[in-house]
Amino acid sequence: MTADPATGLPRAGFFDSGVGGVSVARAFLRLRPAAPVVYTADWTFCPYGARPDAEIRARALEIGGALLGEHRCAMLVVACNSASAVALDALRAAHPGVPVVGMEPAVKPAAAMSRTGCVGILATEHTLRGRLFRETAARHAAGVRVVAAVGEGFVELAEAGDVSSAAARATAGRVLAPLVEARCDPVVLGCTHYPLLLPLLRSVAPGVRFLDPAEAVARRAAALWDALPRGA
Ligand code: DGL
Repeated sequence: MTADPATGLPRAGFFDSGVGGVSVARAFLRLRPAAPVVYTADWTFCPYGARPDAEIRARALEIGGALLGEHRCAMLVVACNSASAVALDALRAAHPGVPVVGMEPAVKPAAAMSRTGCVGILATEHTLRGRLFRETAARHAAGVRVVAAVGEGFVELAEAGDVSSAAARATAGRVLAPLVEARCDPVVLGCTHYPLLLPLLRSVAPGVRFLDPAEAVARRAAALWDALPRGA
């Protein structure tokens, strides 16, 4: 029995290392405002960026297990690119039959919409090193150049809600410089914290188009949520 007692609707569990996944949960709730959502921010271990794969995987399994167990969620959204890169397979194997949606680097839509033939990917080191990114880039980036950059310091800025200080502008300017120089179009926000920094990114690089994959992931999550059994 996994329905939310107040509504009789199935609960969707979201998690991230911190506030980043809110960008995905928000997109999902825009599509399914009535859906009961449980959100876990793993602040004790945030940021995931510099942690070993095995540690992130263990956290993802623990949090996913708690969302599906004590919080009685019927599906999981791994609203974190880093955790998706290292733990999606393990989560699916641990919970067969449960829909588990993860973040995917949006190389394919980026390549399709590029006006310059060069797409940028902003992500954490984990995501860029991960099999998911390497495979997606190899499969979908034929014919375009991909320039990747690690958003060094971005997770901390998003957690602090700092989108305008001089230090934030300097950090964003430093990270975006190679992407601006390479005339990347669009720049994919490959970490769920980064869309929270859009006002900062747009002010530092006004001519750049940014692509947030949250909408596409939210659509997929909504379709899976619709298919879950209803009622207590
Ligand atoms: N929001 C996460 C991601 O999408 C986590 C980043 C981090 O904690 O380093 O990658």
